Formats: sequence, C-alpha cells, structure tokens
Amino acid sequence: MDRSILLIITGGIAAFKSLELIRELGRAGVRSRVILTKAAQEFVTPLSVSALSGEKCFTELFNLNDEAEMGHIELSRSADLVVVCPASADIMAKAANGLANDLASTALLATDKPVLYAPAMNVRMWQHPAVKRNVAQLRDDGATVLEPDEGLMACGEFGPGRLPEIERLKASILSALTPDDTLAGKHVLITAGPTREPIDPVRYLTNHSSGRQGYAIASALAARGADVTLVSGPVSLPAPSGVKLVKIETAQEMLAACQSALPADAFISVAAVADWRPVNASESKLKLKGGEDPVSLQFVENPDILKTISNSETQRPELVIGFAAETHELEKYAQEKLKTKGCDWIIANDVSGDVMGGDRNQVSLFSQQGVERSPEASKAQIADWIVSRIAEALI
Ligand code: CTP
Repeated sequence: MDRSILLIITGGIAAFKSLELIRELGRAGVRSRVILTKAAQEFVTPLSVSALSGEKCFTELFNLNDEAEMGHIELSRSADLVVVCPASADIMAKAANGLANDLASTALLATDKPVLYAPAMNVRMWQHPAVKRNVAQLRDDGATVLEPDEGLMACGEFGPGRLPEIERLKASILSALTPDDTLAGKHVLITAGPTREPIDPVRYLTNHSSGRQGYAIASALAARGADVTLVSGPVSLPAPSGVKLVKIETAQEMLAACQSALPADAFISVAAVADWRPVNASESKLKLKGGEDPVSLQFVENPDILKTISNSETQRPELVIGFAAETHELEKYAQEKLKTKGCDWIIANDVSGDVMGGDRNQVSLFSQQGVERSPEASKAQIADWIVSRIAEALI
C-alpha cells in the first residue's frame, strides 16, 4: 500500500505507543508524517519520532523554516488520512469547538481529509458528559472516533479509556485508507431541496426543505464510488465533492433535468417538490389593488417526478426510492405512497418536530419485505445507513 497519514500525537502516557504504530504502519507501506503537541513532547521526543518515521517531525505553528518548506495548510492536506493518536480530551474539545491555537488544532481545522481519533484518557474523564458531548460532536461532523479499550489504567483505575491495542489501531487505519468502491460503475440519480414555483417575477411558492438529507445521501453515495447526479432546488449548501450537481428551480425543470440524466441504476427522490404551481405566473409584478376583496391565486398540479420515473416503461431504474415526510400516521401514509408512487422503497420520517432544517433525523424504510427503523442520528449517519442498504440492493 502506497499511502500516507498525518499522525497527530497528543499528550498522555499512551503517547509512546504511537512510536510502535509508526513502525507497524511503515511495515504495511504507510508513511507517517507526524505533528507532536507541546504536551506530547513530555512523553516522546521529536528525535525518536523522526528516527522511526524517517521524516521531519513538526511541532510549531509559527516556524519560519517549516512554513517555507511546507505550510501548515498544506501539511494538513498532504496525507490521505489524519490520525490523532492518542487523542486527549483536550484536542477533542478543541476540534469539536473549532479552536485553532497550535499546530495540531490548526491542522485539524484546515484539513479536508477524513479524520480518525484514537482516544486515551482516565476512565472518569472518558465518561464525563463534556467529553461525551465533544465525541458526539466530532462524530456528527463526520470524524471517526474509536472506542477506547477497557482495562487497568496507568493511574490504577479500571474501565474504558485505554488506547486500543496496536493491532486494532492498525486495522482501523488500513481500512480507513482503503477506498470504498462498492458502488463503482453505478449511476445514481438523486433529487434534493425544495422547488420554487413563481407567482410573479419577485414572489414564489416554496417550502422549508433545507436539502441537507439529500446532500448527505449524495455525499455518502460518492464516498462509495457511485457516479452521482444530484438535481437540486435552491439551497444554501456547498456542492458535495465528487457529485455532478444540476441546479434547477421549478418542479417542471426538476423533472426535465432528471429525465435527461437517465438512465440510472437507482433513483432517490428526496426533494420536497411543490405539489402545485400558480397557473400562468405573471410576467410583471402583481400590484396591490387596495380593496378589501380577498386576492385569489389559481394553482395547477405539478408533475409527480417520482411517479413518472417509477412508471417509466423504458428507463425505470432498478431501484426507485421515495421519501415521505409526515406529521402523523407515518406508517399508513408510507404504505399508501409505496403503492401510489410505484416505487420499491419509501423512506419515511416524522417531521412534526424540528427535523426540517435541523441536523438530526430518524427514518423508517418501508418495502415489500417489511419495515426497518434507523437509529436516531445525524443526517450524515442516516445517509450512511440508507446508502449501505442501497449498496446491498444494487450489488
Ligand atoms: N414527489 C415528486 N414529485 C412531486 C411530489 C412528490 O417526485 N410532485 C416525491 C417526493 O420527492 C417524495 C415523494 O414523492 O419522494 C413523496 O412526496 P410527498 O410530497 O410526501 O407526497 P405527496 O404525493 O405530495 O403526498 P402528500 O403531500 O399528500 O403527503
């Protein structure tokens, strides 16, 4: 394997074990470039790290020689994976809150690479609500945080908090370095966000969809090697990397964009498509008439994109998935939509709380085989849960 990691060693009695990790990874063909925090240098020296890694060891944020050779931004992005081992409570608190006051925390904030934390600390620290909160935040942000081992600690206490064994660390790092291409060669078409139906040049009809769940699914699909076309209504989210983004506004434009992106192996209809559009949007701005009579607008039904693609005789994808956002009687409506829309799965969620626009979600997958409920989790984790099932169905 010809890959490299940026290894951040933070302060803790387990820091010396990272030296063995560098050696073991080197044997597996993985290069380690290392950052040592100030506290880590109480346990291991830059000299021993350099001797084992065969690379310069970085310690300072403001070091003119290092910045000239390799700036800290470049350092944070030069590897395939960032590993924090051992990860102290302090570095996780900084990273969870976006603090950047030394080289290690700055690299963690500047990186665009996956990050894996291997925590090691006293059992009471590990079980402290503040640490639990920070770990949950890091996981929500997309990082992997390994569970520490349980056992007798250097401080004499017993419980979870020990650095995982080197073999487990090495296996986790090697698996994070192996690109997942389970969906390579599969084209997945996905819609996300709201649609905007014009009333006149300055007004429109829309809904509260943020597009976050659809964008998270598109990212998770691309991370597994799928060729993804994301047809999106107006949202304020960055384009997911590795995804072909087609921006549209109205339901009719969404249907046309989807049809021209076919054929696809799967179609996932996450968009909150407006059910109606005003008949003949006015070409000029509508004016107040100043009377007391109610103003009325006439609406016409929009095309049902999911139904149209589900029922396509020539270009129906192998797997067609619809979403149902319901405020009540979730199961009843989901089962009904499975039939009326002609799709293979309905992924239903309860939007009576603050799901729309929020970052957490919980879904139920309805199919001919029955119902499966996801755990309550971040939209990124829900996306992974859904994409694992898509991968099983397509392969
Ligand atoms: N959908 C679509 N085109 C539409 C309306 C909905 O493709 N014009 C898709 C959505 O993307 C979603 C599914 O259909 O995957 C369910 O949408 P929803 O709006 O919940 O269903 P409706 O048929 O509009 O039913 P209702 O509003 O009565 O719940």
